[in-house]
Order: sequence, then structure tokens, then C-alpha cells
Amino acid sequence: MEIPLSAIYLAIVLVFTLLTALAGGRRRRKLNLPPGPRPWPVIGNLNLIGRLPYRSLAALAQKHGPLMHLRFGSFPVVVGSSVDMAKFFLKTHDLSFVSRRKTAAGKYTFYNYSDIGWSPYGPYWRQARRICIMELFTTKRLDSYQYIRVEEVRCLLQDLFRSAETPVLLKDHLFTINLNIMSRMVLGRKYTQEQSLSSVAPTAIVPQEEFKEMVEELLLLNGVINVGDLIPWLNFLDLQGYVKRMKMLGKRFDRFLEHVLDEHNERRRREGKAFVPRDMADVLLELADDDGLEVKLERHCLKAFILDMFVAGTDTSTITIEWAISEILKRPETFDKATEELDRVIGRGRWVEEEDVHRLPYIEAIVKETMRMHPVAPLLIPRFSREHTTVDGYDIPARTGVLVNVWAIGRDPAVWDAPEEFRPERFVGSPIDVKGHHFELLPFGAGRRMCPGYSLGLKLIGDGVAHDAQNDGSGVWGVCELHRRDRVLPAGPGGLPVARLRGMAFNLTDIGGIGGGKTLNSAFSSPPTTRQVGNARRS
Ligand code: HEM
Repeated sequence: MEIPLSAIYLAIVLVFTLLTALAGGRRRRKLNLPPGPRPWPVIGNLNLIGRLPYRSLAALAQKHGPLMHLRFGSFPVVVGSSVDMAKFFLKTHDLSFVSRRKTAAGKYTFYNYSDIGWSPYGPYWRQARRICIMELFTTKRLDSYQYIRVEEVRCLLQDLFRSAETPVLLKDHLFTINLNIMSRMVLGRKYTQEQSLSSVAPTAIVPQEEFKEMVEELLLLNGVINVGDLIPWLNFLDLQGYVKRMKMLGKRFDRFLEHVLDEHNERRRREGKAFVPRDMADVLLELADDDGLEVKLERHCLKAFILDMFVAGTDTSTITIEWAISEILKRPETFDKATEELDRVIGRGRWVEEEDVHRLPYIEAIVKETMRMHPVAPLLIPRFSREHTTVDGYDIPARTGVLVNVWAIGRDPAVWDAPEEFRPERFVGSPIDVKGHHFELLPFGAGRRMCPGYSLGLKLIGDGVAHDAQNDGSGVWGVCELHRRDRVLPAGPGGLPVARLRGMAFNLTDIGGIGGGKTLNSAFSSPPTTRQVGNARRS
């Protein structure tokens, strides 16, 4: 009897499928995953993650150890919560854990992962990092924008002084100043300040408040836990409505960015050979013309890079400065030491300058201590494993999400003396820095994915904190002398603590931190809005 060819073919396919399944099953059975809580069907361990995920994960690590395995919805995740684990993920096996998982936020708000933060590992991302290091964040370029930072800080101080006796939400002012600084460095000017609508693209310019709201929405949507990302078969339902908001926001930003690029191109065309790049958008447009690049920079890539700068540059510094001020105001002796140092090194006759900060070890120590206790990205930006790796006999399969809990490491009693206390003194004379070499203090991450904007971030924060603590004794600048009688912080409107600074009141608001809201997908979470502030908790 002759067996039909189709039956033989079918038999081969069946045997092959069976063998593959068996081999896969055997391989899966053999995996020795790190310890962790037992997952539920569908949601995995999401039920164990509270409003502040880094705290929930730190508590779980107490039980399961510094290397844990969990499931977030359908996806496996490992969490490192010790100095050794941070070294393992970010240094020893950095290259295995250097990628990012794709999420709806990266797709809809960052031009299909065309920015630096969401871009998966590969030639495009490597080139983007090179552009950051060689073009955008060189010392020369950052120094050339120093005058912008100086002007904006002074504007802030004048604004605050003018608001004397009126309560101000410090966070709002800090956010605006950082947004203005980033706008001028990246786009060349504060587009949002324009009153009249441009005749070229009337819808492209947005009022300041609306632009702030857009940036805040971007931060929020890039930080939320979007159920569809974790349980893909629920994706089409968009249960929380986030994807709809992401698509809408993507369009709003696109209109704005199109106008910005058109305007920059127009100046290039007008000035011809005499053209000199003035801002980061100019630099990026020149690179887009470069045929020698390994990966061509398309227009949407430029727009994604520009958005990255706004997201990464605005909120991070705002949150850190606000935490620093909040901690200083709770500890009068810290405030005294800071003003004493400023009086001694700078004197009362001039403003503190950016380059002074290196001569102010106590101010620098305040910044480090703030970043130890309140890292803006407590879980860094989640990484994604590219290959199977083993550690201490445990398997970490390829395509596993990786979180490093730098918040837990910053409060580990095995590493820090009295870790819950704000004590800048611990860093005075200490060699520990924040540049990714000391794994006990990693506010900017470490390794290949480490924050490329850390030097700019440090400038903004060091300068901000120093100015806020500066005291000329005359009240002319008037921002920062804490009235002795007001050292005990009275409750302010809405039950928030309010510190009265020379002639004005600051509401000290809580900040969950970037990644501090329910954010596991991204470092970029929402800052608390004025509405949220009332019920926010201090972490
Ligand atoms: C207080 C200031 C800042 C802090 C604390 C901070 C922190 C971080 C952290 C923790 C990461 C993730 C690192 C990792 O995954 O291992 C990151 C990534 C990033 N940061 Fe920052 N950052 C700050 C300021 C800035 C500024 C000013 C910029 C640029 C204008 C910037 C641009 C970026 C970008 C583009 C990434 C993504 C890098 C990549 O995925 O390759 N950051 N930042």
C-alpha cells in the first residue's frame, strides 16, 4: 500500500512538534528560578504590589532574599535588592540585561520606541547613546548653556520674592524653571510663552499651562501600570483608558514638535553657510543630514529624542530639589550648616555660581543624601534580559524583566548606618559618588543604560539646592532665610506642612518619586498634581 506524501509530511511535523515540546518542557522543568512568592493565575504577583512598588518589593525581599523571581501579569520579572545584585545586573552581566521591553507608552508617545529610554538594545540605541555623549551632553555644550540656567534660576528667585506672604507651591515653581531651562537648551527658546499664534502653524504653539499639563500627562502615562502591557490578551479592551490617552497625547506633541522642527529648518535655510547650531534641536537636525551615520536619523527620531530630554530633564531635578528642601527644613541644624558653608565660601555679597558647588562639600553631601533616601527612579528603568544567565545556581531566562531596587539598597542597614535618618554628614569626606561606580548609591543607575544626562542633572540640582539655602541676610533675595521662630513647621492649608521662609510660605508636598507611583514599566512617573498633593503620603 502506498502511503500518501501528505500523510508522511504530517507525521514528520507531528513528531517534530512533539520532540520540541518535550525538549522545551524538560528545559523548563530544569530551570532553577530564584525564590519568590507564588503567583496567581492571570495577575501573577501584582496583588502584592502597593501604591509605592519599591516599598512593596523591598518588603518582599526581606522574606525572599536579595534576588527574587515574580510574575507581573503574564511576564516573569526578577528583582535585585542588594549591592551584589546591582553589580551583577548592571556591571558583571550588564550586556545581558541592557534591553527594554516594549510597552504601549513607548509605542504611542515616543514614536514607536524611537527615543533613547524606550529603545531596545541594538545599533539604533548604541548610536543614540553616542550622540548623547559626543554631541548633546559634552562639557563644552553644557557650559555654553550655563547662562540659561543662571537666568532662569534668578527669575525663579525674583518670582518667589514677589510672592512674599502668599503661599506658593514650590514644586510648581521648580517644575516651571526646569521646563524653561530644558526648553531653551533643547529648543532654543520658551515656545510656550508666545502669546500670539504663529501664522505658519497656528495650532503648534501652546500656552504655558497647557504645555505643562502635556508634559505632566506624558510623565504620568509613561509611568503607569498599563494592564494591557502585562496581560496582553486584555490589551484590546484598554481597561484603564490609558492607551486612548497616549494616542491623543502623541498627536498633540507631534503638532508642537512639527512646528519646532519647521522653524529650526527655516533658520538653517535662511542662514545657509553662516548657520551655526544654537540648541540641541539644531544639533540633531544637522545629524539627520549626515549620511555617514550607522542608522539614518529620521524626523520622527528627532522628535522622540527631544521629548526624552523634556521627560528626563524636567521632573527628575524638580523632585530631587524639592526633597532636599523638604529634608533641610525638617532639620534646622542641616540648614544652619548649609548656610554657614555658603556664607564662608561664597560670602553674602554675590550669588552662588554653578562652578562654586564643587567647593561646597556640605551642599554636595545634602544632594547625595537626598538621592540616597529619595532616588527619583527607585527601581531604575526596568531592563529586559537578552539571553539566559545564571547567578548563584539560579536561572534567569532570556526575555525576563529586571528591576534593581536602588531605594532598598539606599536604606539597607547592612550598608548604611541609621539608614532612615537624613544625615548629609555621612558623605562629607566620603569617596562615594553618584556616577555609577559605587553600587550602594545609584540614583542615575550604572552601566551601559546609565543616565546619559547625569552631569546636567547634577548641575541643576546642586545649583538649585545651593540657591535655596543661600542667605544674604538682607532680605533682598529673600528666598531662604528660615525664620527662627518658624523652625517648627506648622500645618498648612490642606494639612500639609508649611515652612515659612523669609516672608513667604512653601507648601512641602510629597513626591512618590519617579517610579514611585504605581510604576514598573518606566522611570518616568507622574509628579503629583496639585489635586493629588492633598492625599499624597510621604515615602
Ligand atoms: C536628577 C536628575 C536625573 C536623575 C536622577 C536621572 C536618573 C536616571 C535613571 C535612574 C535612569 C535609568 C538608568 C538605568 O536604566 O539603569 C535614567 C535614564 C535616562 N536619563 Fe536620566 N536622570 C536625571 C536627569 C536627566 C537629564 C537632565 C537627562 C537629559 C536631558 C536625562 C536623560 C536620560 C535618558 C535619555 C535616559 C535613558 C537612557 C537609556 O535608556 O539608555 N536624565 N536617568
